[in-house]
Amino acid sequence: MKLLAGISVFLSLGLLSFAPALSDAPTGFDNKSNGLVDAATHTADQAKFEEVEALTDGLGPLYNAQSCRECHQNPTSGGSSQVAELRVGHNDAKGAFQNPEIPINHGAEIIKGRSLVNDRAICPSGAFPNTEIQEHVPDSEKIRTFRVSLNLLGDGFVEALSDQTLLDLAKDQCKKTQGKICGQALYVPIVEVPGKTGVGRFGWKDQHASLLSFSADAYLNEMGITNRLQPDEVTNLCNAASEPNDTPGTDGLSDIDHFARFMRASEAPARDVTLSQTSEAKNGEGLFDKIGCAHCHVATLTTASAGTVINGGNFTIPPALGDKTFHPYGDFLLHNVGTGDGIVQAIPEHYGRRIAEHPDLKNSTFPKFQSTADKIRTAPLWGVRLHSRLMHDGASVTFTDAIARHRGEASHVTEEFEKLTPAEKKALLTFLQSL
Ligand code: HEC
Ligand code: HEC
Repeated sequence: MKLLAGISVFLSLGLLSFAPALSDAPTGFDNKSNGLVDAATHTADQAKFEEVEALTDGLGPLYNAQSCRECHQNPTSGGSSQVAELRVGHNDAKGAFQNPEIPINHGAEIIKGRSLVNDRAICPSGAFPNTEIQEHVPDSEKIRTFRVSLNLLGDGFVEALSDQTLLDLAKDQCKKTQGKICGQALYVPIVEVPGKTGVGRFGWKDQHASLLSFSADAYLNEMGITNRLQPDEVTNLCNAASEPNDTPGTDGLSDIDHFARFMRASEAPARDVTLSQTSEAKNGEGLFDKIGCAHCHVATLTTASAGTVINGGNFTIPPALGDKTFHPYGDFLLHNVGTGDGIVQAIPEHYGRRIAEHPDLKNSTFPKFQSTADKIRTAPLWGVRLHSRLMHDGASVTFTDAIARHRGEASHVTEEFEKLTPAEKKALLTFLQSL
């Protein structure tokens, strides 16, 4: 007994006197595991992520693509891509965003509860020759945007940031800039634990905090595959597959579990090794800091310690993801930089109809969403050199154009950029090219 007490005093003193040893997150575009799982497991999870779904698997009835990889592939599985999806809606008389109402099947059914408009449908077909379910945007849905596909590599480290880290970041940047730049942290549902929330960090609107929640959302809304967290088809017209479409395999895991683990085990995007060592890129980073880009595009963040329980109690941070520094060049907070698309996170779409009706979330969490209509999450710049189209809408194709579009909270920083000498601007752009 005495001995045990002695050991525990020794251990707790040890913990108090030494900060946890931090190490840098592994990086690479080689699809290696970051250490969370062994190589064979990671390869098997990647195969699930790349699998092409067919009608017999439950594809559709409305969908955008047949596999996760179709949109997350550049330069390798889990990267980003040029594929953009369509979101629309309208404002009510009071100026609040409302999800669109999209008639299908000659107006016999109305698709509601989502801002996403799917680009593909499984019918009309041989089996359903007269059922027309292709979605078309009515003229009345005046708010319209495209959003390009995001990078997923390294997202396990992002998920392992504590909520407090993001809340502190928002507070600090607001203080340092005398209130000019104040990112918003938004609490969103953890779909796998009804009633629990976390600080959103994934998606252009920070609509998810958990990679499992995001996997379930994407599987249903991008591919039409129902799963245990998103069990309701968007429409049952032309639907012939058994429900839910995603069921556990012999290992007890469903596809959404494999997707989440694939992303959690991915390495962070690697920098351009040659360019990042040049003095021009280093000077460029100094200017990036000095003129204030780094208030939002934060270079280094640190994950919570291994053993920390996150995602409403559903996930314990493993050693491969805990106490890691990584370099996302982002703050994962929402900002108004004058580019906001006016669209608010669609509750039934992202969290499912069951969570949409959850009393606690309905009364406390969801009302805050309207305040984000004109905000966008700071685009993390890791791996940005590999993106052909920039900003949420993909409408900028050069770094200079993307920077020039930053207004609102970033106005004064954009002005500082415009005041740089040509050589300084070139250095800053070289730095971006090295990320
Ligand atoms: C049709 C293209 C498409 C397909 C297919 C697709 N995604 Fe995505 N993904 C996107 C787009 C577009 C976004 C940004 C959405 C937004 O925020 O509006 C995104 C964002 C994400 C994010 C957020 C990443 C971050 O760091 O913020 C995750 C995670 C994700 N997708 C996972 C998946 C998984 C898992 C699958 C397969 C089940 C999948 N996606 C299938 C297009 C796609
Ligand atoms: C107030 C916060 C803030 C500041 C300051 C800021 N940015 Fe951004 N940045 C954002 C947000 C938010 C986006 C996404 C906007 C969108 O998609 O509409 C973004 C997007 C970008 C992109 C596009 C990345 C991509 O993947 O599409 C680049 C490049 C960029 N910023 C560079 C810079 C540079 C360089 C500076 C300094 C001159 C800067 N930013 C200052 C918040 C900021």
